[in-house]
Amino acid sequence: MGNSVELSAPKDLTLPANPGFTQLESNMAEEPKFYHPDPSVVEYATVKEYDALYQRSITDREGFWAEQAEALDWYKKWDRVLDDSNKPFFKWFTGAKTNIVQNAIDRHLVTRNRNKLAIIWEGEPGDVHSYSYHALNREVSRFANILKAMGVKKGEIVTLYMPQLPELVFGMLACAKIGAAHSVVYGGFSADALRDRINDAQSRVVITADGGYRRGKPVDLKSIANEALKHCPTVEVCICVQRTGQPVYMENDRDYWYHDLYKLPVASPKCETEPMDAEDMLFLLYTSGSTGKPKGLVHTHGGYQVYASTTHKMVFDIKPEDRYWCAADPGWITGHSYIVYGPLINGTTLILYEGAPNHPYPNRWWSMIEKYGINILYTSPTAVRGLMRFGESWPAKHDLSSLRLLGSVGEPINPEAWRWYHRVIGGGRCPIMDTWWQTETGGFMITPLPITPLKPGSATKPFFGNECAVVDDHGKEVGPGEEGSLVIKNPWPGMARTVYKDPDRYQETYWSRYAAQGWYTVGDSAKRDEDGYFWIIGRIDDVIKVSGYRLGTAEIESALVGHPAVSEAAAIALPHELKGNAIHCYVILRANQSPSEDLAESLKNQVADHLGKIARPDGIVFVDSLPKTRSGKIMRRVLKARALGQDEGDLSTLEE
Ligand code: WTA
Repeated sequence: MGNSVELSAPKDLTLPANPGFTQLESNMAEEPKFYHPDPSVVEYATVKEYDALYQRSITDREGFWAEQAEALDWYKKWDRVLDDSNKPFFKWFTGAKTNIVQNAIDRHLVTRNRNKLAIIWEGEPGDVHSYSYHALNREVSRFANILKAMGVKKGEIVTLYMPQLPELVFGMLACAKIGAAHSVVYGGFSADALRDRINDAQSRVVITADGGYRRGKPVDLKSIANEALKHCPTVEVCICVQRTGQPVYMENDRDYWYHDLYKLPVASPKCETEPMDAEDMLFLLYTSGSTGKPKGLVHTHGGYQVYASTTHKMVFDIKPEDRYWCAADPGWITGHSYIVYGPLINGTTLILYEGAPNHPYPNRWWSMIEKYGINILYTSPTAVRGLMRFGESWPAKHDLSSLRLLGSVGEPINPEAWRWYHRVIGGGRCPIMDTWWQTETGGFMITPLPITPLKPGSATKPFFGNECAVVDDHGKEVGPGEEGSLVIKNPWPGMARTVYKDPDRYQETYWSRYAAQGWYTVGDSAKRDEDGYFWIIGRIDDVIKVSGYRLGTAEIESALVGHPAVSEAAAIALPHELKGNAIHCYVILRANQSPSEDLAESLKNQVADHLGKIARPDGIVFVDSLPKTRSGKIMRRVLKARALGQDEGDLSTLEE
């Protein structure tokens, strides 16, 4: 996910003198071992105890998940809960017929939820639209009928490249409703990144918008899409939602305005939901891995709907009257599971906000919490740290007493940010659900419940049904407080089923390291303490989390090597106070090139242009050689240790 907060305060405002740090320091001495939940939270909580239910969920995993699945609607129930006959390609709820839209929308239309607000959307300029479940159904049905009229068929993959507009949610649900799969590409990605993802998915139809608002300015999207589409031979149709009204180039016979299509008789507000097999693809979501090409992870209708809704309901203790805000972008897995699917399946009223957290002032989020009476706020440590910098006076202007629970995701949350979030935003009363999970897992894997005693910076314990461990290279569990590799020992319904068109890569990346034990390798290092609490340390593979956004060193390096001056490049992550990590690159120039400030700037731009602004490196270092293994692999860990002045570790495989 991720939510970057730019730190330039509006010009006419000076920052308050006390940014909250001093008080933090003085509180630190009294740090309790556990933060126990407020009695009001425990009293309110639906799940009142963890241990017994956890034990049951792992001794009878299939029984536990079957029970959760029973709470949803199915056109036809499953023959088997778990089919593990072809490991690691697990299948869940085989034989069942469903469609995630059946549960996210259709079932609410015959209950009191019909007239309940599903989505409250606020644009950055302050415009507001809200949709009841009834209205959501009409919008999604119209979009679905438009897609059908454009020839979209069951099983095909539609790419969406959108700002945070309600139409992004409608578009995702419309695809699912008619049995097409969606591939959402985050609106901050560049033309090249979009092009690669469209081509991998072979999309025939792309949905985009003219732009969106960010920090008071319209951001251009359509011209980036136009650039990408020059190199996407499979694309026949591009549907463009008008948001900003800025002039954009529309290609004849390919590009259509959504509002024009919406007026056609074919865009009727009635559309049947397509019954799907539980294991049919719901969506593809590209994410970065160790090697160059982003991988498209495949999630399916049946297991994913059970996992996203169960985790959302239990961890955020969702009640019918709640107003819930996940301030991520729908373009990331957090948005898929915890803005769109989990909340809608649970019949929740969700908030969607288009713009920046500090626009026009750093109290934007706090004012929205007050205005809408939000009960649950779920965001990233980067956003918390960014807003914390502006000081306590901004949240202090607002009544935040509606908040009951807070959430954090995307990267480890440092204890200072945790305590600030807890004390200043949560009024000391709202527990923080530090949810650890991944694009691959579909939903929370290690997370507190509202009743869990908390330790700042720890994601606490596994969610029901999951057995996690911290192990060494041989798969032996390490002792309390020792660092090791995090593994998951069991299948779960929300797990990604494969890498699109590349099952070998799925098996190799996640299931080969501990193949003998049949464990899933997470790619994170972690510790488990004497109380059995998990502490995530960070990625051990070549993935970098910047502001919670997930990037691959290989993608960054290949963008650099694409520059005419560069012969070789290595990218690493170094700690950054605000972003968690920042990208630093080591570059070997071609023979006729010499290092300069200007060249460093142009290399930074090169990466931003190829991948998106979030990937712009903080530092470029020109070097003559890179530490490599004898087989030619760059030893990024050595570069990192050197940059941090730390022990370089075992250098026996180093070539020179
Ligand atoms: C990191 C995001 C610490 C982790 C949902 C993981 C976290 C990667 C946490 C997945 C957390 C996510 N504490 N680290 N609460 N949540 N991570 O696929 O390194 O974008 O492997 O999914 O984010 O990133 P992804």
